[in-house]
Amino acid sequence: MKRIAVITSGGDAPGMNACIRAIVNTAYQEGIEVVGFRHGYRGIVDNLFQPLHPDDMRLVSQRGGTFLKSARYPEFREVETAQKAATQLNNHDISALVVIGGDGSFRGAAHLANYWQGQIIGIPGTIDNDLAGTDITIGFATAVDTAMEAIDRVRETAEAMARVFIIEVMGRQAGFIGLHAAISSAAEAMILPEMDPQPKLPELADNIKQARVAFPDSSYIVILSENLWPGGVHALAESLTKATGVTCHACPLGHIQRGGRPNAQDRILAMQLGQAAVSAILEGSSDVMIGLENEHVVEVPLHLTFDRDKPLAPRLVNLQLGLQGVNFTSKKVRKNA
Ligand code: F6P
Repeated sequence: MKRIAVITSGGDAPGMNACIRAIVNTAYQEGIEVVGFRHGYRGIVDNLFQPLHPDDMRLVSQRGGTFLKSARYPEFREVETAQKAATQLNNHDISALVVIGGDGSFRGAAHLANYWQGQIIGIPGTIDNDLAGTDITIGFATAVDTAMEAIDRVRETAEAMARVFIIEVMGRQAGFIGLHAAISSAAEAMILPEMDPQPKLPELADNIKQARVAFPDSSYIVILSENLWPGGVHALAESLTKATGVTCHACPLGHIQRGGRPNAQDRILAMQLGQAAVSAILEGSSDVMIGLENEHVVEVPLHLTFDRDKPLAPRLVNLQLGLQGVNFTSKKVRKNA
């Protein structure tokens, strides 16, 4: 009988619990035992073993975070650490490992494959949506909803006080959350890593000044992707305040975007991918990510999920650029499919 292990790894994402449930319940129906290791790869190495049974899965899907816990574990890049993990998996008689996580976790999976003979299946779980080979990752839709709701709240006070806000959203090096949050919250401007060339301070300042003249009684919201502006959102707000003479308020949304109950879209996606992961194991697949492309479940070689950039949809970038009424000099997006 097969024994499958599951880990959640890297930044947690709403929907990870629903995915674990789908794996456990699908495997159970096939007579396969599922076990977990808490805190991702670290848990395999440190033997943080946890049996998983359908009885324990009834109340997990609606919860954010991951009940299996997660961790960043850079030590896993070391050969000895990966070898230790391989030994632990063999000691527990595991024949397949499911890794729910993002690009760092999949790099870890590809590394482990050099030292472990079992099947390895990745499931895309990250709020950043930055994995190539899948249209969407578990947690992204909820994170966008959360960001949008937070920005809506800022909008109300900003509108009441006719203020300018620079709101920083997550995404690591990718602008998916920024773009979707900007469109859905009807932002006046956005600054995303994929914009080439990047908007410059004088252009932003000019736009704000023009908006103040045209709409002196209104709010103005800029969405800024994290890790982009030197010194971050506070530095940008300060520079814009100096350049415009209008107080620009900095508002980083931070980890609020990662928590919270998964929305229906994320739960359904997570369950679909979890179930498909067990089918893939039964069919003998390995070293692949289970993704969703054009509504179809697909298997993508793990390295192709992190070796390629995933571009933003140009039609959505143009939608926001057309609607925000702000004339940044460039409307181009990086073309690096
Ligand atoms: O990968 C998810 C993510 O939330 C990114 O958007 C963000 O840059 C990063 O994780 C933050 O990581 P940590 O919680 O380890 O600081």
